Amino acid sequence: MADKEGQLDTHDYHLHRAQVAEPFPLKGCQSLDWGMQNRLSRIFDPKSGKTVMLAVDHGYFMGPTSGLERIDVTINPLLPHADTLMCTRGILRSLTPSTFTKGVVLRASGGPSILKELSDERIALDMEDALRLNAAAVAVQVFIGGEFETQSVHNMTRLVDAGLRYGMPVLGVTAVGKQLTRDAKYMRLATRICAELGAAYVKTYYVSEGFETVTASCPVPIVIAGGKKLPELDALVMAYRAVQEGASGVDMGRNIFQSQAPAAMIQAVRHVVHEGMQPGEAYELFRSLAGK
Ligand code: 5RP
Repeated sequence: MADKEGQLDTHDYHLHRAQVAEPFPLKGCQSLDWGMQNRLSRIFDPKSGKTVMLAVDHGYFMGPTSGLERIDVTINPLLPHADTLMCTRGILRSLTPSTFTKGVVLRASGGPSILKELSDERIALDMEDALRLNAAAVAVQVFIGGEFETQSVHNMTRLVDAGLRYGMPVLGVTAVGKQLTRDAKYMRLATRICAELGAAYVKTYYVSEGFETVTASCPVPIVIAGGKKLPELDALVMAYRAVQEGASGVDMGRNIFQSQAPAAMIQAVRHVVHEGMQPGEAYELFRSLAGK
């Protein structure tokens, strides 16, 4: 029991100062509950409002992708440079050090492999397990225009409901099928549907024409996927343009872990995303860190 003797009288009420409540810095996320905002703060740097997510979840449908054959060897050394790790619960439990205290975004949908129709996914993670693993968010693929569009949207809305119950943000990942055109019109449609149906933030692909209309019409933050491996300078230009045109960061995989110098690349990407470094300068930084 606390000792009542010698307690100081309370007196410092700062009567002439209005109570300060800092606005939550992330676009469209002001009304989320404290736990949800706290989790998002483990993904988006509260100072820059941006994130560099390192995406290594490709194995959930592709198996041991090039660069991810030995995640302990190639990815764990990159973790100090990432704001967030996006992975499956299998990789998290088997290979990721539990001393990693930044945000973890867990892959929460899956089912078909690259040998099958990819849009036929189901929810592949219970919210209880995401909480047990101290995840900062869960990610679900949404196939707008795909053969199993309704099923994939339903996967997301089920996760959004469970996430709201426990304070877990849902990342809606707009997946582009081979037959669909990757243009701003499509991205506006797909990202807006994810946001309208409750995703806390949305991942999509950068499009070189009209991307600012995609970010403008999506009421929650957008991060871009890196997509297939590009020359390093091109990937840095893409990240730069995306952020300048309203993206809140990147969720980049192959353009980092398939780079000739992954540690140099992720550091260059960080400068572009958090500090607005010009791509040419970031490329020089990449070259010098890579020892070229
Ligand atoms: C798979 C994903 C990946 O996480 C995503 O594609 C990011 O990786 P990359 O930058 O290699 O495209 O969501 O569906």
